Amino acid sequence: MASCLCRYRRRIILFCSPCILLLPVCIYVMIAMSYVMKHGDTGGYAGPGTYVSTVSLPLLPDRFIARGLKRSRDLAPHPEKSFWRSELESGALWNIIQYMMDRQRNPILSPNLTIETSSNLERSKSENGCSPNSNIDITMPDFLTLPTQMKNFVRTMHCRDYAIIIDPSDVCNHGPLAKKWAPMLLLAIKTQTANFENREAIRETWGRSGRIKTRDGQLKIVRRVFLLGKSKSRQHEEKLQLESKKYGDILQWEFTDAFFNLTLKDVLFWEWFSRRCPHARFIFKGDDDVFVRTPAVLDYLQAVEANESLSDESKNMESFVIGDVIHNAAPIRTNNTKYFIPESFFKGLYPSYPGGGGVVYSGSLAHRLLEVSQRVHLFPIDDVYLGMCLRRLGVYPVHHPAFLTFDFPKDEPKEPCANHTILLVHKRSPAEMFKLWFETLIPSPECRNATLRVKPRPD
Ligand SMILES: *[C@@H]1O[C@H](CO)[C@@H](O)[C@H](O)[C@H]1NC(C)=O
Ligand SMILES: *[C@@H]1O[C@H](CO)[C@@H](O)[C@H](O)[C@H]1NC(C)=O
Ligand SMILES: *[C@@H]1O[C@H](CO)[C@@H](O)[C@H](O)[C@H]1NC(C)=O
Ligand SMILES: *[C@@H]1O[C@H](CO)[C@@H](O)[C@H](O)[C@H]1NC(C)=O
Ligand SMILES: *[C@@H]1O[C@H](CO)[C@@H](O)[C@H](O)[C@H]1NC(C)=O
Ligand SMILES: *[C@@H]1O[C@H](CO)[C@@H](O)[C@H](O)[C@H]1NC(C)=O
Repeated sequence: MASCLCRYRRRIILFCSPCILLLPVCIYVMIAMSYVMKHGDTGGYAGPGTYVSTVSLPLLPDRFIARGLKRSRDLAPHPEKSFWRSELESGALWNIIQYMMDRQRNPILSPNLTIETSSNLERSKSENGCSPNSNIDITMPDFLTLPTQMKNFVRTMHCRDYAIIIDPSDVCNHGPLAKKWAPMLLLAIKTQTANFENREAIRETWGRSGRIKTRDGQLKIVRRVFLLGKSKSRQHEEKLQLESKKYGDILQWEFTDAFFNLTLKDVLFWEWFSRRCPHARFIFKGDDDVFVRTPAVLDYLQAVEANESLSDESKNMESFVIGDVIHNAAPIRTNNTKYFIPESFFKGLYPSYPGGGGVVYSGSLAHRLLEVSQRVHLFPIDDVYLGMCLRRLGVYPVHHPAFLTFDFPKDEPKEPCANHTILLVHKRSPAEMFKLWFETLIPSPECRNATLRVKPRPD
């Protein structure tokens, strides 16, 4: 009898141990789902009001047939498999949240979901959706072992709705002449309160605002704005206020200026841009420790526009983005670097993205980025986030070898005119910015004919 029971017990254990093993996974997924239902849709711009109260996901049909096609005589063959990937392949928190957002805000399934940026922004501001979420801890099994910046990010990533502290209103022209006097290039430079010296150097060198001479002697309008969060030092903040009064180029928001909050600068800048400088033709977005050869960038963009007007494809400009493009990057899994992203947060490769040191895109693309960013959950690394948005827009960033976001290759022989062949180089101190500016502004006779680098980066 006893041996009999024992046998049963062993069988029961054998039979049930997979369930027991799976139980934590199930609980984890359920908690994560409930997090998404609670917070996934309150993220910043809060989404279209019609759906906020409903949490049920639209059912996925097996096959999607575009409306209007049915009446056509020659239908394309029905797809063999379903049109979209319907299973979630990973239990990482970001992937789960994005999966839910994709489902809820799928413009094909719900064509009537329109994104009304400004009104939603106003609405979500009045709701207090930005307090840190302490329940999130239990959705990541290893939360307690994570570095502080990751913890802080995860606790506040449902919020992108920070008030503006300093809102420069005269960076670009407005009123009836706004379009006529729209800048060719708006420089949007990420900086931190303490970096007074970098901003001074930029203002006097590559970041000059006004009419800038291109290398073939034309005058183009360039404007400048610095993007900041807030710092802890009250002294610095007061100094920043004075700086803002003097130059009118400070754009500051009410979030802590931390590395993992940089993505907020993108999404909030796109929102500011759509209100304050919507006609700028191109945007440079980059760091305050780079040197940009602005006149050469203007030359290049002028050529891009000339090409544009020759071609029939008027859509090209809506997809224009250029920089130092990184392909097939994988998240860094060692927890002692500032780029560390744990597997419990994100799984998969990063999409192709232009390095955040400096990237140039068209104003029309910026408007599209603002829209699509409301369907992409915040990601802690800003250039990767840009890549994620671009991928959703079906836009491929173009690599240009003259964007040296990793400086000149170490093994490259020193060329006397090398500094005249670049569009951007990282990283440069304020003193080097001055040196480079004067060196490249009036090139020595032997460097006058230098053309942009074409050498690919040695990988
Ligand atoms: C979407 O809007 C159209 C017209 O505005 C309406 O006829 C249609 O029923 C709506 N569809 C859904 C799913 O609400
Ligand atoms: C990094 O990971 C190790 C083990 O995975 C852990 O012991 C350590 O505390 C972590 N360090 C930080 C800064 O989180
Ligand atoms: C980002 O800013 C918010 C608001 O100040 C803050 O609560 C959060 O901790 C910051 N995130 C990081 C990663 O520091
Ligand atoms: C302009 O178009 C030509 C021909 O398609 C191309 O070779 C060139 O790189 C383009 N220039 C720019 C600046 O895009
Ligand atoms: C290029 O600029 C750097 C400063 O960033 C300077 O040290 C170097 O001498 C310059 N190269 C040449 C060949 O002038
Ligand atoms: C630069 O170009 C001009 C005209 O194309 C030419 O006359 C001159 O010799 C060139 N200078 C150098 C240093 O190559």
